Amino acid sequence: MSHPPSKRRSLVVETVRVIARDPYPAGQYRLSLQAPRIAERAQPGMFIHLGCDEIGQFRRPMSILGAKDGVLEILFKIVGTGTQLLSQCAVGVRLSAIGPIGTPFMPDPEATWIMAIGGGTGIPPLLFLLEKLAGLKTDQHLVFFGGSEIPFPFDTPIRRTPFPGLDEVASRSLSRLDRIGVPSALASRADLPGTYSGYVTDLFSHWLTQAKITEQDHCQVFSCGPRPLMATVQEIARRHGFGGALCLEENMACAVGGCAGCAVPIRESDGLAMRRVCVDGPVFPIDRVLFGESS
Ligand SMILES: Cc1cc2nc3c(=O)[nH]c(=O)nc-3n(C[C@H](O)[C@H](O)[C@H](O)COP(=O)(O)OP(=O)(O)OC[C@H]3O[C@@H](n4cnc5c(N)ncnc54)[C@H](O)[C@@H]3O)c2cc1C
Ligand code: FES
Repeated sequence: MSHPPSKRRSLVVETVRVIARDPYPAGQYRLSLQAPRIAERAQPGMFIHLGCDEIGQFRRPMSILGAKDGVLEILFKIVGTGTQLLSQCAVGVRLSAIGPIGTPFMPDPEATWIMAIGGGTGIPPLLFLLEKLAGLKTDQHLVFFGGSEIPFPFDTPIRRTPFPGLDEVASRSLSRLDRIGVPSALASRADLPGTYSGYVTDLFSHWLTQAKITEQDHCQVFSCGPRPLMATVQEIARRHGFGGALCLEENMACAVGGCAGCAVPIRESDGLAMRRVCVDGPVFPIDRVLFGESS
């Protein structure tokens, strides 16, 4: 998959209304926001910069989990002041949102396999990607692997969509993928029922071995989550010769390209370059992201 130079898309500033608020264990929340102008422009991998209360003094970046019929879905976990304020927004509250921001995932339509590996609050953009691809009804094989150390903020019944090789080690799946025929498997080190006991990257590696997937299968791997997870996915992709992309969730200030506060080193054909995660990313080709190495 080639990664075109950053193309600025038009950003919308929109007053959005909370129309559903669903709390989940361990301080996780899913909000549905009436946001017709942003929703119609949203692509998987893009995010919004969302005011966390009606006054709008804190804006925080949030990935888009879904965008349909004028409604945006987001999922977040409380980590500090902004997300704490956001968690208190009741149905009917109006918030200011800027978006959709950033470069979306651009999967290769010729790829045979699209594999998505997400951890924690990195799961939302991957579900948006798979749901969109599933709607295209192509011959591509779509699979999802999710990891969490707290209960998943989704229904996780016993899998109905077959996922050969994984029923013994990870029997539960995400119902929202199951019902559209996308196999998914879950991992946790927190003894969550029906999950693989270990890291999601180990589950992914286990499946690659079971399914005898090779470079010749034309696979693309997409990932979002904690940096150690994405670093491991990058290494697995490198070993198998898979392409794909990573979605970075760096700390941000302006989120619209003005402050360079989110810049990270990215490998380019002529060396390293500092790229802004907010507008040059958050999605970058999998082989271009640096995790700790110097070049
Ligand atoms: C493009 C993008 C998409 C995101 N999507 C989601 C999402 O879908 N769901 C979700 O729950 N979160 C998401 N995040 C992270 C979310 O924006 C932060 O958790 C949030 O800004 C924290 O704000 P706060 O005021 O609650 O906490 P703060 O008080 O700002 O921070 C609390 C603690 O969390 C750390 N922290 C803050 N932001 C980040 C970050 N991005 N990465 C690592 N540590 C951080 C701080 O250093 C601090 O230790 C995303 C971030 C980016 C950049
Ligand atoms: S956060 Fe300001 S340039 Fe990205």
